[in-house]
Amino acid sequence: MPLSVVILAAGQGKRMRSRLPKVLQPLAGRPMLAHVIDRARSLSADSIHVVIGHGGDAIRAAFEGQNLSWHVQEEQLGTGHAVAQALPAIPDDHQVLVLCGDVPLIGVPALEALVGAGDGSTLSLLTAEIGEPAGYGRILRALDGGVVGIVEEADATDEQRMINEINTGLMAGSSAKLRDWIDRLDQGNAQGEYYLTDVVTHAVEDGETVVGVKVEDASEALGINDKPQLAAAERTLQSRFAEALMRGGVSIADPARIDVRGELSVGTDVFIDVNAVLIGDVVLGDGCWIGPNAVIKDSRIGDRTEIYANSVIEDSVIGNDCKIGPFARMRPATVLSDRVKIGNFVETKKSEIGVGSKVNHLSYVGDSTIGSNVNIGAGTITCNYDGANKSRTTIGDDVFVGSGAILIAPIEIGTGAFVGAGSTLTKDAPAGELSVARSRQTSISGWKRPEKKPSK
Ligand code: UD1
Ligand code: CA
Repeated sequence: MPLSVVILAAGQGKRMRSRLPKVLQPLAGRPMLAHVIDRARSLSADSIHVVIGHGGDAIRAAFEGQNLSWHVQEEQLGTGHAVAQALPAIPDDHQVLVLCGDVPLIGVPALEALVGAGDGSTLSLLTAEIGEPAGYGRILRALDGGVVGIVEEADATDEQRMINEINTGLMAGSSAKLRDWIDRLDQGNAQGEYYLTDVVTHAVEDGETVVGVKVEDASEALGINDKPQLAAAERTLQSRFAEALMRGGVSIADPARIDVRGELSVGTDVFIDVNAVLIGDVVLGDGCWIGPNAVIKDSRIGDRTEIYANSVIEDSVIGNDCKIGPFARMRPATVLSDRVKIGNFVETKKSEIGVGSKVNHLSYVGDSTIGSNVNIGAGTITCNYDGANKSRTTIGDDVFVGSGAILIAPIEIGTGAFVGAGSTLTKDAPAGELSVARSRQTSISGWKRPEKKPSK
């Protein structure tokens, strides 16, 4: 039977207290809805429908170019009304799987079990047994165990609130039958909404069997309505990632203190210390050592390279056997060859640095090409910006730049050149020569220090 997925994402998410639509709130660095769409895709659904309302334009824009059918629910009259917006686009012979944009942790096996439960003719619900069911709809079962209804928290009696089997909000059923049951919904409830959950009552009226499929790992059922739940979901996801990384051989100092917000790929014998944040596409080569509080975004780190504490690396390529930091900042388009050393308080941007070169302390290297075996002394600045335009600095192989040099770009320092400490260079420095550009020292003998005037 063909499968169509309907994802509900029209609600405002008031409890988030945010201008950002709820389903765009980030989870592991991606919109919550992206996780749900991923699940739908892994079921190889024939079509995926997303019902939007609040913040609909922003949501649609975030998923531009993806193969999705959008349906606008002008007024948020409830989850049943939301599904009704998509149903006209789904043929009668399809099975419909309803997912919620705010239930993003659900795993594929649970969804497969849900879809498989009725082969499309009966109605199947995904339920979960949880310790603190407050806020969720509760599953009502008859004495024989069959599901006979779902009661929302707001409509439940005290006794019903004691039930800890909850509705995950996810269900599957035949398109034709759902259409009929949804037509029969009314707003006679505490919230004055068309509850999707009431289709269960109509299915039971029609003599249908409603199958409750319990999800094995209840943490997958978490519905995210507010920031504490968002944070709880983030922790659950992150511990899953950490677990998978460790199973793959990565050593993690504390699996509760690593954040992966994107695609991380790792070689063998990688060590990651506490509080590393890895964003976007990050590649860590064999034997990489990532120090505490490192932030690495969209970058590739070579084999055996060590990134020391508090370094920030973005859109950069770092070679093998490099040593970076502590407190280094590699800004976009930094490309380091092998065995490069970048020390504390060094900032680089749009620069290539050759094999074995060192920039050990307190320097700024921007818009530069630096050869191999170069030593850049402490406090060296490539002055790449004149307030209007950026210019390049080119430094040949085997150059030694003394401490505190100011290199005013555009400028070229020839191969093997030596730049005296404290020089301000405005012209090219020839290969193999010493260039010094500073005023000579004068020492005045017999000079006296100023004396402090007596205070009145
Ligand atoms: C819903 C279920 C509840 C279940 C819980 C699981 C109903 C009536 N209740 O409650 O049984 O335990 O999910 O997390 O279904 N939405 C729309 N249009 C609307 C209303 C909601 O698209 O008019 C979307 C929301 O954006 C959200 C989802 O449907 O993604 C669920 O809505 P929400 O208001 O969060 O329902 P809950 O109160 O959590
Ligand atoms: Ca919800």
